[in-house]
Amino acid sequence: MSIEWKTEYNLNIAEIDEQHQKLISLISDMLDVTNRDDDFDHYDEIVAIFDELSDYTVKHFAFEEELLNTHNYSSMDMKIHELEHSSFVRKVVQIRQQDLDKNEQGILKDTIQFLLGWIGQHILDTDQKYAQFLIERGVK
Ligand SMILES: [Fe+2]
Repeated sequence: MSIEWKTEYNLNIAEIDEQHQKLISLISDMLDVTNRDDDFDHYDEIVAIFDELSDYTVKHFAFEEELLNTHNYSSMDMKIHELEHSSFVRKVVQIRQQDLDKNEQGILKDTIQFLLGWIGQHILDTDQKYAQFLIERGVK
């Protein structure tokens, strides 16, 4: 399995697409290191990528929320969007504290699956929902 950018992920808003690509590429890096078939333990490297992803996600979510707020995105949609962001951030913290410590291949793979599944679906559903709204307001 390898992880690739899908054209359906494109919102056609340059800065957001770049940030989303960075998120997907960090998950892809995590998978590549996890699958590396040599005699070394790559645990520290994997956790470092996870931490980078976790930090970058927080920044990206804040960027997105600020952009939407600036353009007065509907408060109901905004609330739902922020809730999705905060529940993901909580989950990522929980994975870091409870799961990753075990340093098990299976847990790492499940984690990668979860991260990709969540971020991919969030882009396709929740983020795609605001794309047109921002484009109509001149955001490129
Ligand atoms: Fe989002």
